[in-house]
Amino acid sequence: MLEVQPEIDPVPVHIAIIMDGNGRWAEKRKRPRLFGHKAGVDSVRAVVEAAREVGVQHLTLYAFSTENWRRPGLEVKGLMSLLKNYLQAELDNMMTNEIRLGCFGQRDRLPADVRRILEQVMADTAHCRGMRLNLALSYGSRAEIVAGVQEMMRKCSAGELDARAVDEQMLSDHLYSTGQPDPDLLIRTGGEKRLSNFLLWQVSYAEIYFTETKWPDFRKPQLLEALRDYAGRQRRFGKTGAQLDTE
Ligand code: FPP
Repeated sequence: MLEVQPEIDPVPVHIAIIMDGNGRWAEKRKRPRLFGHKAGVDSVRAVVEAAREVGVQHLTLYAFSTENWRRPGLEVKGLMSLLKNYLQAELDNMMTNEIRLGCFGQRDRLPADVRRILEQVMADTAHCRGMRLNLALSYGSRAEIVAGVQEMMRKCSAGELDARAVDEQMLSDHLYSTGQPDPDLLIRTGGEKRLSNFLLWQVSYAEIYFTETKWPDFRKPQLLEALRDYAGRQRRFGKTGAQLDTE
């Protein structure tokens, strides 16, 4: 029987997700943490497909933070290997579904083989216009902002930029997310209620949705629930509700 979904309106243009809870999900099942990350990759596939289906235009997934390098070597190696397999396996699917892959983060810190396939998929999907999928890899928001400021200061020293011209838009243009709209909705799975150095500049006005559901259990129905919650919110951007009613 055909499943009838009540329409979700509006759909966020950009969703960012902190995919948390893989380790605890596995530990609860008395399995190694990597088992949780593997199940997490299935959630990535499901959520990318569902987001594309409902018309999300930008999806940013926090897959590996700068702090995650401090995890046990075997876990880091396992995550890198999952990432490489995912990228190899998904290229055709991304092309078919017009998904353009991007990367936010310190690409040069990634193992050479992962970086190679990542850049290959980015190049092969550069023409795709259906949805942008950004993977945050070796990503940290404060480091991103510092790098952006440094680049603007370098331009000032070189006489290419007047310091008085620096404004919010210009800083935005010096971040990994340049050219993409700020997230409308930030989702964090796994029950913790913090931002963990993720897109601190970009989420200034994002609606935040925290859920206890651990990432391996977060699939299409859970995404739709988050989208319905988002659709029910009033985004005021500093104005009053009455002002918005008369617009
Ligand atoms: C957080 O769970 C999750 C991560 C650090 C990695 C997320 C990675 C994936 C979902 C798989 C690889 C990604 C792609 C894009 C193929 P945690 O380990 O911190 O969980 P815990 O808080 O329960 O310990």
